Amino acid sequence: MNPENLISRKKFLYQAGMLGVAAAVASITGEAKNLMQDGKKIRVGLIGCGSVSTKYLPHLSKSPYVQLVSTCDIIPERAKKAAEQYNIPNHYPSIEKMLAGAPFDLLVVTTDMQEHGRLNKIAIQAGKHVWSEKPLANTYKEGKELVDLARQKKVRVWGAPVVVNSPQFAFMAKAINQGKLGKVAAAHAHYGHLGPTWSAFFYEKLGGSMPDLGVYNMASLTGLLGPAKSVVAMLNVITPTRKVDNRPNPIKVEAEDNAMVLMEHASGALSHVQCGFNYFDPYGHGGDGQDKPTISIWGTEGNMHLIGYDWAPFGVDMATFESEEKTIRYAEDTGSYVWEEGASVIAKSLATGVEPLVNVDHSLHVLEIIEAARRSQEEGRRITLQSTFKWPMIT
Ligand SMILES: NC(=O)c1ccc[n+]([C@@H]2O[C@H](COP(=O)([O-])OP(=O)(O)OC[C@H]3O[C@@H](n4cnc5c(N)ncnc54)[C@H](O)[C@@H]3O)[C@@H](O)[C@H]2O)c1
Repeated sequence: MNPENLISRKKFLYQAGMLGVAAAVASITGEAKNLMQDGKKIRVGLIGCGSVSTKYLPHLSKSPYVQLVSTCDIIPERAKKAAEQYNIPNHYPSIEKMLAGAPFDLLVVTTDMQEHGRLNKIAIQAGKHVWSEKPLANTYKEGKELVDLARQKKVRVWGAPVVVNSPQFAFMAKAINQGKLGKVAAAHAHYGHLGPTWSAFFYEKLGGSMPDLGVYNMASLTGLLGPAKSVVAMLNVITPTRKVDNRPNPIKVEAEDNAMVLMEHASGALSHVQCGFNYFDPYGHGGDGQDKPTISIWGTEGNMHLIGYDWAPFGVDMATFESEEKTIRYAEDTGSYVWEEGASVIAKSLATGVEPLVNVDHSLHVLEIIEAARRSQEEGRRITLQSTFKWPMIT
């Protein structure tokens, strides 16, 4: 591809991003302009060819909007193996080599959590759009700087999770917004298992059960009840040493593996997230068979329970005065939603110009909650939040 094509293509992608909101509005009136009418796909590079990439790559490879261009991993055999498995023409051992290699539009970041902020920044500086696994960065400040840099570089950045995309989230959000629960007062969410066994980073500084697991519940509860204004938390370590596959000897657990986080939402509702790496749970890391509620919400006129984990839900039980206090199961159809769809959804959005539901201000808000919970534990006090996001997300 000659440089002129590159520039016009970049401009096209920028416009696709910037036109997103307008196109989203237009799509409602049936006038969405298909920005992919020239038949070009979004060229995608993926960095971090470990566990989660085995879920992302199959999903991306089936997307009509995606052309998989390259893989990258600091363990080069992993990048090579993934490239071979999914017929991806290029693989690299570092982000620098990847950026200097075959051109692409969107970087999908699925590396160790602690590396996300640094890699996201390098990619944005190089003019790439970014889809990042959670967390977007190590601190709220670092995350906010990424978003500002992206704006300056005229590219877009988004972060996992995509729990707001499930039909069950949509059902719950609509029920709350339509007042079916009356005045919402309280909510509880939980997610835990015995912890990942393959990589040390989950237990190292800035890792922990909050950015790995609690992040889903925090995104769901803030997505449903609105932005939080303050946080109180207790965090600790229950299992001080662990054996993981990528270290020869047991490691010291530095990040929390047990968290209780209380949020005060701007609406007045109080909610609670419980997460950890020490939960006996017959559903394991894959979550198969979890058929109990993992999120419950109570209001003055009804209550509601999400069935299954919020990243893989399959129903909502709701009881209201309207249903004569009987619990009825709703939203049993999961449609095409899967938790690993994030990067594909973003590629589609870049290609079509239709703004996705997931938005970076929400990701930043969740990142600030995680950081505030750590500070609350350290300082023994309630922490006031500064970030917010556009809410309600679904009306
Ligand atoms: N494993 C899952 O089921 C799962 C599910 C959802 C989200 N996630 C998230 O995905 C991310 C990755 O988790 P994982 O379980 O796949 O971990 P993993 O250890 O299996 O894979 C991470 C990969 O990134 C590579 N890597 C690290 N630093 C790099 C760098 N600077 N450049 C290139 N490659 C680098 C590692 O070599 C490794 O292959 C985490 O943020 C995690 O929270 C994981």
